[in-house]
Amino acid sequence: MTTDISRKQQATTDGSRKSVPWWREAVTYQIYIRSFADGNGDGLGDLAGIRDRLPYIASLGVDAIWVNPWYPSPQADGGYDVADYRDIYPPFGTIDDAVALMSEAHALGLRVLLDIVPNHTSDEHAWFQAALAAAPRSRERDRYIFRPGKGPNGNEPPNDWLAVFGGSAWQRVTEPDGTPGEWYLHLFDAKQPDLNWDNPEVRQEFLDILRFWFDRGADGFRIDVAHGLMKQKDLPDVGHDPEHLLAPPDRPDHPHWDRPEVHDVYREWRTLADSYHPSRVFVAEAWVSSPERLAAYLRPDELHTAFDFDFLRSPWRAEELRRTASASLAAHDAVGAPVMWVLSNHDIIRHVTRLGRPQAEGLSNPFRGSTGVTDAQLGRRRARAALLLELALPGGVYLYQGEELGLEDVEDLPEELLQDPTWERSGHTERGRDGVRVPIPWSTSGPSLGFGSGPAWLPQPESWARLSVQAEEHDPASMLTLYTKALRLRRELPALGAGSGRDVRWMDVGEDLLAFARDPEFVCVVNTGSVPVALPAGDVVLASGPLDEGRLPADTAAWIRPR
Ligand code: BGC
Repeated sequence: MTTDISRKQQATTDGSRKSVPWWREAVTYQIYIRSFADGNGDGLGDLAGIRDRLPYIASLGVDAIWVNPWYPSPQADGGYDVADYRDIYPPFGTIDDAVALMSEAHALGLRVLLDIVPNHTSDEHAWFQAALAAAPRSRERDRYIFRPGKGPNGNEPPNDWLAVFGGSAWQRVTEPDGTPGEWYLHLFDAKQPDLNWDNPEVRQEFLDILRFWFDRGADGFRIDVAHGLMKQKDLPDVGHDPEHLLAPPDRPDHPHWDRPEVHDVYREWRTLADSYHPSRVFVAEAWVSSPERLAAYLRPDELHTAFDFDFLRSPWRAEELRRTASASLAAHDAVGAPVMWVLSNHDIIRHVTRLGRPQAEGLSNPFRGSTGVTDAQLGRRRARAALLLELALPGGVYLYQGEELGLEDVEDLPEELLQDPTWERSGHTERGRDGVRVPIPWSTSGPSLGFGSGPAWLPQPESWARLSVQAEEHDPASMLTLYTKALRLRRELPALGAGSGRDVRWMDVGEDLLAFARDPEFVCVVNTGSVPVALPAGDVVLASGPLDEGRLPADTAAWIRPR
């Protein structure tokens, strides 16, 4: 670190103040590189674009950035198919650009998290190419999961596992002598062969990769598919598996998700992170079946943090939001870890869209959201309220680029432009995630609304001129203004930031109201009902929308200093 980034002094319930590690309360801004800012005019975002815009990110009032994979890659899955973990995808820039980016971010007081993809490599990675050229049962093949096929000629896949993006999770190879050969496992695209984490060479390689980036300035890593690395030894059939990525609650012993053996991997990673001063940190992307299973990744000798996906899967109803938030807090408290709240990312439907659709019962599928027509204005109103809610809860928060502008999913991208492998692998039944990856509008005009000097890799809706940074930055009623105000207050108000479930006093103030107090002198109230309600006595510090004669309207939240 080049700068000492000051830590907020956190008030405790007894009024004393203590400092907490930054990652326990940080707000982290996620950068999906190809869609953030295009510095060289080729239509694709890049590191030069990010470096130009770092002051903007810092001005929002966040503490850190998480940068999606930036490594050389055929881009079969937006860079989550890594061909070389120690270099940069040339259209994004160079290693020098990456190191400069990290040091410039540090100078602005921003920590930098990178993205590590340990479950699979690209099929163009040197290891996989060597595996293809080698014989069955060779050392080269043992780094991946190769098996003979079933059936008389071995022409059926080794088991019934499905790829998250659709179709079988197995692909047959042609052996070097030209005969049909073994099959390899790919839980995602066929261009993403799964690594064999029972192989010590794989484990060592990833420790070396982590070290490589820690030594160059990375403050930590987001771990991709953290729940997927280990597979049950004999690779048994999974049977019916409707969700594919979400480990189902009725399968405590799923053969490839959330296996108990995975925890040993993260204990090794934690030991490495703790050998650095200051210690490096991790955040897990783990789609597991309960807050308790998630918390198991956050035991004191494992990972620091993990995204909380239950909260964002909850319908917009006070009771359900309170139930999921308190369950997450309780499970995290049991292992002493902070919750990481999140509403959107590059994989899941943008929350303006999710919240603007009819709300389902129970937890929804975050990749598709509920069915029904989107009312984006309603979604934006709820998104404003949801922001105040998540920023008021104890722990850290992840923001996805563009949510601060109120961007919605682009639901009508022309089919011929879709790039998510889901589109092809689902036989054109699932459009996939491109609609949440449309480039950011920076200005009100220009060929790609200020994203770059020419057209962007995906077209932006014309209406996004009104949602651009330029359009919103001086508008007191804009989403951007709300984000900057709320983030500033979150740093200033001693009640906010780090804490545990014990710091939240839920208040029973009405069926459609979610309300809680934190010390000192703070109350957050959210109205998920359809009529305005009276506010608790106090001064309104911030509201997500205009009040109605002093009452809190539907789909609005307020922060209050009680009297
Ligand atoms: C990433 C996705 C990616 C997948 C496979 C995820 O969970 O966030 O974008 O497609 O892992 O690497």
